[in-house]
Amino acid sequence: MSNITFTMIKPEAVAAGNTGAILNKIEGAGFRIVAMKKVHLSKERAGEFYAVHSERPFYGELVDYMCESPIIAAILEKDNAVADFRTLIGATNPADAAEGTIRAEFAESLAKNAVHGSDSDENANIEADFHFSAEERF
Ligand code: RTP
Ligand code: MG
Repeated sequence: MSNITFTMIKPEAVAAGNTGAILNKIEGAGFRIVAMKKVHLSKERAGEFYAVHSERPFYGELVDYMCESPIIAAILEKDNAVADFRTLIGATNPADAAEGTIRAEFAESLAKNAVHGSDSDENANIEADFHFSAEERF
């Protein structure tokens, strides 16, 4: 069982003023915030973060979107963090996201879907290390 995951509140959700409401749901579901910051990703950093998707047709659109305005990046801790957080955020496409999930409530579209959640323990650690040093985790 994993105990950390990595999340980003994506640009359109931050710009819409949904940061507090989304963090409220995250803490309400039992996740502890280990590290958190607001950051405006450069195109290079966004491209590197999503390099796993570089062959997908939506890669260019995804990179442009993720650096259009600031995001909130955070490391979250909970038993079974990766799987439980994916359950909390709901399906990638908000049209398929279960009622009560973050994406059902806050996502605008398949592309602009409010939040990111790591998809494995290995990626959670890679993504956490991408954004945070050891000194930034408490
Ligand atoms: P995420 O990595 O952001 O948590 O999302 P996910 O695992 O649910 O979905 P993934 O397949 O990893 O896709 C990453 C992000 O790319 C955007 N996307 N756009 N236009 C499209 O067809 C399309 N498909 C995916 C979404 O922002 C998705 O979250
Ligand atoms: Mg993903």
